[in-house]
Amino acid sequence: MRHPDVPAEFFEDMWKSLKAGTLDGVVKNRCKNGDYYWLLNNVAPFYENDQLVGYMSVRLKASPEQIEAANDVYQLFRDGKAGNLKIQDAKSSNRPY
Ligand SMILES: Cc1cc2nc3c(=O)[nH]c(=O)nc-3n(C[C@H](O)[C@H](O)[C@H](O)COP(=O)(O)O)c2cc1C
Repeated sequence: MRHPDVPAEFFEDMWKSLKAGTLDGVVKNRCKNGDYYWLLNNVAPFYENDQLVGYMSVRLKASPEQIEAANDVYQLFRDGKAGNLKIQDAKSSNRPY
């Protein structure tokens, strides 16, 4: 479930980037019981005969460093202090890793 700490800009970028290819982003999710967890979400569009038929997500554990970095950036957006900062490709697109 979506956690309100993740700024709308992140998801806007995600859907935009998904048209171009895969991306991986650090996301904070909310559980039904109110808890939360962080994940490294690798999302990819899924095509059949050149037609978009869905999306796949490979969910990995985010490292403490990734969580800290994402948390700081999300905070800036929530506080309206992101200035010219833009979330783009949730950091990466089609990057081998
Ligand atoms: C494959 C895939 C996996 C997704 N995983 C998550 C996720 O784990 N958490 C999340 O909040 N949104 C995830 N999203 C994005 C949601 O569909 C949605 O855009 C987002 O939660 C923002 O909600 P809103 O559109 O109601 O603002 C995923 C989207 C796709 C295509």
